[in-house]
Amino acid sequence: MIGRQFQSRIVVLSGAGLSAESGLSTFRDAGGVWSRYDIRDVATPEGFLRDPSLVHTFYNARRMKLRQVKPNAAHCALAKLEDVCELAIITQNVDDLHERAGSHNVIHMHGELLSAICHNCGHRWPSPDELSADDICGRCGAQSVRPDVVWFGEIPYHLERINDLLLGADLFVSIGTSGAVSPANTFVSQAKSAGAKTIELNLESTEISDCFDDHRLGPATEIVPVWVDELMARGLHWR
Ligand code: APR
Repeated sequence: MIGRQFQSRIVVLSGAGLSAESGLSTFRDAGGVWSRYDIRDVATPEGFLRDPSLVHTFYNARRMKLRQVKPNAAHCALAKLEDVCELAIITQNVDDLHERAGSHNVIHMHGELLSAICHNCGHRWPSPDELSADDICGRCGAQSVRPDVVWFGEIPYHLERINDLLLGADLFVSIGTSGAVSPANTFVSQAKSAGAKTIELNLESTEISDCFDDHRLGPATEIVPVWVDELMARGLHWR
């Protein structure tokens, strides 16, 4: 890792749009995940208790797909940026593409596809390719193994650490998210009120675009590498 040349604290919030060009579906675009599955069936604790096999089938398919794709130029550009400044990536994504691109400081606020957790005791372990309703927790023995993904109605992970990052950010960058889900869609306002500059990089305008100081529109694999290169060429000065 080359030495940190700059002390700028950049906080990125990434969403499904960042992984779209790697081949992973977004949720709310045309043909997205929620146009094919009912959130109540596969992304709520009630849905899991009602039909755990359906939930496992849904996440096993997404885990299988993840094994077949790889990080794209946007993931790689962010990993490069981390080498030259203090960068934290808060991701709503449950894929591991940031890590596979070389990013280290990644906070999965909605959990991770490649992790499993016991619904009964909270024990967590690396997920095998397939989970099933018959799996038994290795710590408490309960038959309540689930994907380690935060569902609607549950509290996202790492909120205290995220709050500290937002309070200390010099620049807040939203990439590939519709801003449809709370609390992620409040982060821009929190960072801004703490003095950060804010920029949205997205394929199209979103319902929170008005909250940002600056915008770049286009596919992430095009606009993110250009934005990172410009930022580095300017010595991370964006004001
Ligand atoms: N490049 C950049 N942005 C893109 C691209 C692309 N190639 N393709 C799509 N987008 C943008 C869309 O314009 C949209 O604004 O990415 C955004 C994807 O929005 P969503 O599908 O709502 O995904 P996301 O914002 O990550 O959803 C947040 O909702 O369902 C929950 O837990 C799930 O983490 C997810 C959360």
